[in-house]
Amino acid sequence: MNEPAMIPQANPGAGYRALQPEIDAAVARALHSGWYVLGQEGRAFEAEFSAWLGTRAAIGCGNGTDALALALRAFDIGPGATVATVSHTAVATVAAIEMVGATPLLLDIEPGLFTLDPAELDAVLTQPPAGLPPIRAVIVVHLYGQSANLDAILPIARRHGVTVIEDCAQAHGAALHGRRLGTLGDIATFSFYPTKNLGALGDGGAVATFDAARASRVAALRQYGWRAHYVSDEPGINSRLDELQAAILRVKLAHLDAQNARRRAIAAAYDGALAGTAVAPPSRRDGAEHVFHLYVLRVPERDAVQARLREAGIGTGVHYPVPVHLQSAYRDRVALGPATCAVTAAAAREVMSLPMYPELTDGQVDRICTALHRL
Ligand SMILES: Cc1ncc(COP(=O)(O)O)c(C=O)c1O
Repeated sequence: MNEPAMIPQANPGAGYRALQPEIDAAVARALHSGWYVLGQEGRAFEAEFSAWLGTRAAIGCGNGTDALALALRAFDIGPGATVATVSHTAVATVAAIEMVGATPLLLDIEPGLFTLDPAELDAVLTQPPAGLPPIRAVIVVHLYGQSANLDAILPIARRHGVTVIEDCAQAHGAALHGRRLGTLGDIATFSFYPTKNLGALGDGGAVATFDAARASRVAALRQYGWRAHYVSDEPGINSRLDELQAAILRVKLAHLDAQNARRRAIAAAYDGALAGTAVAPPSRRDGAEHVFHLYVLRVPERDAVQARLREAGIGTGVHYPVPVHLQSAYRDRVALGPATCAVTAAAAREVMSLPMYPELTDGQVDRICTALHRL
């Protein structure tokens, strides 16, 4: 008998194949337009994305890391400023802070929910760590598809006059109390990396805001600081969303809400399969709508569990195996909050991501559920 095919943890190729006729038509349209960077498709995507999100503007850019750097620049945050965020995130979040010349301060997460611990933020804003420049902003990462604790974080940030940047790279379509993430802080950033809930077939990103002046500043900063062609008002970068990716993203945006619903249905099936096992399903925050960018379990015997699932033809991932503050690039030089990221370090030893994408078939979900039930 043939071995069943391996079910990968992520599968952007399946995302393309599921929408192939529409995507191919959009790509042909963009190719035949004769205009490949910052044109019709990009402008249409920006308008459609901001309308879908509910912000006044969205500005496309090269990737989610640049989007964070552009958002920081839009608030004049750079050298001489500290930016607080978490260590339990993609390295990109911290890399963006250093890209603009600011100093990162890495805080711990809430046990069980994997996002910024508001108590840590309150502690560092009330008593700033010695030797650091003033804390001017916090990047709140909505990790795995679920909102951070904005109910607690926003009032703390407001009280201390700190800018709130929502990193929505993993949370397209997620909500808190019925409002989409990316509309609750001062400015928001998105990544369209191929595996994201809204994924391009290459790199892409966006900054979203209600503030027209900051939107136009971001639009200038993404292209050398140009206000008029070839004339820079201030130094910028080159980080543009190309027309092919914009055309593809327009197709995919129209399917995003349905695809997020499918992700939630798959998550519910996994939850059911785990009932009665020693492994708890992911916690949901009260009032939050999860979009399951990732379905993440905590398993103390991770290596063994991953090996067992691999034998059953099920791929898994680890997001993330090494917290940013313990990676060689940052270890011993990056500032930490009072809890020294102890909850983060413990989580990194145990987190494990199951296959999660809307194109998983019912048969594949059943196979995964059977294996989970035996955990
Ligand atoms: C939480 C988070 N922030 C930022 C990024 C950066 O996005 P990109 O890879 O598009 O630069 C990612 C994706 O990798 C991410 O997961």
